[in-house]
Amino acid sequence: MDILNKHIVITGAARGLGFTMAEHLMAKGAVVSIVDIDPEAVAAAATKLSQGGKAFGYVANVADEASVETMFEAMKQDHDQIDGLINNAGILRDGLLVKQRDGQLTKMPLSQWQSVIDVNLTGVFLCGRETAAWMIEKETQGVIINISSIAKAGNIGQSNYSAAKAGVSAMSVTWAKELARYGIRVADIAPGFIETEMTNAMKPEAKERVGKMVPLGEWGKPVHIAQGAVFIFENDYYSGRTLEIDAALRL
Ligand code: NAI
Repeated sequence: MDILNKHIVITGAARGLGFTMAEHLMAKGAVVSIVDIDPEAVAAAATKLSQGGKAFGYVANVADEASVETMFEAMKQDHDQIDGLINNAGILRDGLLVKQRDGQLTKMPLSQWQSVIDVNLTGVFLCGRETAAWMIEKETQGVIINISSIAKAGNIGQSNYSAAKAGVSAMSVTWAKELARYGIRVADIAPGFIETEMTNAMKPEAKERVGKMVPLGEWGKPVHIAQGAVFIFENDYYSGRTLEIDAALRL
């Protein structure tokens, strides 16, 4: 797919990886719609992006079906079609499944599990479903990219996150097979450790430890993930696979 003048929607793009992917795709001539849960952040990000081309901002909670459907209806008033979607919105709510310390046993609350599944897995399902329906309706041979993680292999303290990201990768393969008949490609990206607001919340000593675990010796930058997204959009024979961008860290 030639990115020039294509309408590409990115969820969770008011900051972090999503925002950088928006900038990168706009530099290649895409018209970008960013979606995020925080209205002020959406307005600020869309204004900033608009300095580099055509950018639109929409507010939605990707975990909420009605919110997603309403947002897509609003988007259809502004855009005739959708050529690409990056399902990027995600959250972390880390914790051990069960923990025993000083004779005290604590369990991960169901709400902690569910919040991550709702945003990181159901959110991908809902936005992917609406996008596929719009593409098929308009006979658009588009591309859907889902953002997974190296944590999909399983990671201590991330029962909820790892399960959601493994689900995202499995769903990407499923959609690639189901939607191929409409000319729609689907793939996912599994980033390693990338410097964003999400990971900046880690303690400095933990960040340093993580950096030392990476065979290439340093954290990734959001632009590395944006370059992966461009590759998937542009390569018409790439579908149903996970692009791992982790400097050989794979868990
Ligand atoms: P971030 O926390 O900097 O940005 C995430 C964005 O998603 C925020 O703007 C937030 O408001 C938005 N968001 C959260 N919940 C939402 C909801 N319910 N509806 C709509 N928007 C919502 O995170 P970052 O680091 O940019 O991550 C982006 C994606 O990449 C996530 O899916 C994350 O799991 C994934 N990822 C990030 C890695 C990293 O090292 N930063 C590594 C592997 C995967």
